[in-house]
Amino acid sequence: MSTLALTGCASGIGAATRTALLAAGHTIIGIDRHGADIDADLSNPAGRAAAVAAVLERCGGVLDGLVLCAGLGAHVEPPSLVVSVNYFGVTELLDGLLPALQRGRDAAAVVVSSVASTQLPWARNPLAAALERGDEAGAGAIACQAGARGGHLAYAGSKNAVTVAVRRRAASWGAAGVRLNTVAPGAVATPLLRAGLDDPRFGQAIRDFVAPIARHARPEEIAAMILFLLGPDAGFIHGAQMVVDGGVDALTRPTEF
Ligand SMILES: NC(=O)c1ccc[n+]([C@@H]2O[C@H](COP(=O)([O-])OP(=O)(O)OC[C@H]3O[C@@H](n4cnc5c(N)ncnc54)[C@H](O)[C@@H]3O)[C@@H](O)[C@H]2O)c1
Repeated sequence: MSTLALTGCASGIGAATRTALLAAGHTIIGIDRHGADIDADLSNPAGRAAAVAAVLERCGGVLDGLVLCAGLGAHVEPPSLVVSVNYFGVTELLDGLLPALQRGRDAAAVVVSSVASTQLPWARNPLAAALERGDEAGAGAIACQAGARGGHLAYAGSKNAVTVAVRRRAASWGAAGVRLNTVAPGAVATPLLRAGLDDPRFGQAIRDFVAPIARHARPEEIAAMILFLLGPDAGFIHGAQMVVDGGVDALTRPTEF
């Protein structure tokens, strides 16, 4: 039995992951805005620092796993909030909790990115430079000044950058003995997707885009990949992005992998 911390545990993919991890006998320290073991707002530095401190206190400084699911969709206003949660809500928890993971047993971490991470490749990602230098206000301002494109830019740009941030940590985390990977879901039936479908700015585009496997994923199908990545059968998988998207990536980028 191991002890794992999990953000976004109250809903959607995070809730399904929590259920699956509990069923597998693990101890979970859940983090979310309300109603979790640790209530914290990951959209600002103080909330993120409080979340890290509370996890360290609860786990006694030793963690066997970390799953970062908390995130906001492209419909959320202002776009700077999306950037803060989706990027800094991941990188600051990764860096703050690595020492505890190093003390854990066969420790591993999984970050939930998105298939949208490939829509704004790093070289064309307007947020890349600001995010890489840790400029939260600057990156948020770029997204907010993008007008009608702001939501898409904030979501795809933050997801691209968070996948890059994970891959850039592969060397140091490997040396530290902690595996770190991302999962990139396509459309998953959760409240986040529902809000996007209901938003007049995004709904039609989401409906028009049909994956080769023409349905939405169930949150449990993403949780299954997360559990696999955390477990011993994934012992040589590190720095990878596992796409769970019903074939969207193959459809849109058949020659890039
Ligand atoms: N649903 C999809 O189609 C889809 C597709 C690709 C990627 N994803 C990603 O999967 C992850 C989980 O999304 P979901 O679809 O389960 O959404 P969801 O809205 O059901 O769950 C997200 C959770 O994150 C929490 N959260 C949001 N802002 C927070 C903050 N400031 N502080 C603390 N917690 C916060 C929410 O309270 C919620 O419990 C997200 O990172 C999302 O970008 C979702």
